[in-house]
Amino acid sequence: MEYAVYLETAAVLARQAGKIIKDKFGGQFEKGYKSCPSDLVTEVDRASEALIINILRQKFPGHGIIGEESSGNAAIAQGGYAWCIDPLDGTTNFVYGIPFCSVSIGLIHNGEAVAGVVYDPLRDECFSAALGCGSFLNGGPIRVDATRKKLSEALLVTGYPENKSYSGLLRRVDYHKMAHSCSNLRALGSAALELAYIACGRLTGFWENPLMPWDVAAGSVLVREAGGKVTDIEGGKLRLERYLSITASNGLIHEELLQALL
Ligand code: IPD
Ligand code: CA
Ligand code: CA
Ligand code: CA
Repeated sequence: MEYAVYLETAAVLARQAGKIIKDKFGGQFEKGYKSCPSDLVTEVDRASEALIINILRQKFPGHGIIGEESSGNAAIAQGGYAWCIDPLDGTTNFVYGIPFCSVSIGLIHNGEAVAGVVYDPLRDECFSAALGCGSFLNGGPIRVDATRKKLSEALLVTGYPENKSYSGLLRRVDYHKMAHSCSNLRALGSAALELAYIACGRLTGFWENPLMPWDVAAGSVLVREAGGKVTDIEGGKLRLERYLSITASNGLIHEELLQALL
């Protein structure tokens, strides 16, 4: 219960930031890139992050803040509270006009993700969860898909890093083998929203390697609180550090998914 009090602020901020994204979607905006030409960033990413961080600083002056666009190199604080923000998850989709992106605001306490909100501004879907309190979509409880018990029945989702030089960090997953081991495979382009879709049962399993803490801080809480399982790609504890790996699922297919990823 302790962490649920933070959800209201996170949800209000996610909706305000989401409005910036919605208003600019399909229109004109400044864009550029960061580490390489496919690692896109826009004025909208920056405006969304500035809005969220300004309010969090005022409301919780003692909390740490890790935001993709302003503190991308910061380490996750080990002690105390820290907010972990992806102001626009799915920038590539946004730039190409594909309506699948989100705002992700996670709360970390003593190194563990304890609460989070993932908001899809183009569908007005707000996913939220806090440790011990369950997962919700627009206020109604959600659960992972308990009907698909085998990997062969699963709809899986994954993603690829924008910067191909990160591929040296990747576990070499055989995508052909993965696609053949499940019912079907997707790459929708917003890791945070993909985790939210696992939480509400629209997708069965997810892996990606590497990702950053702000991609998964909120979504991992959504999945766990909806009855699913989250680990790293080897089945160990999810570590909220740079270039993390993640496997998330409805729980029922988790071992089979981990085996297939070997
Ligand atoms: C990206 C998205 C995408 C994932 C990439 C991430 P961004 O985040 O989550 O789904 O495949 O690895 O970098 O840059 O759009 O916030
Ligand atoms: Ca990015
Ligand atoms: Ca992201
Ligand atoms: Ca982002």
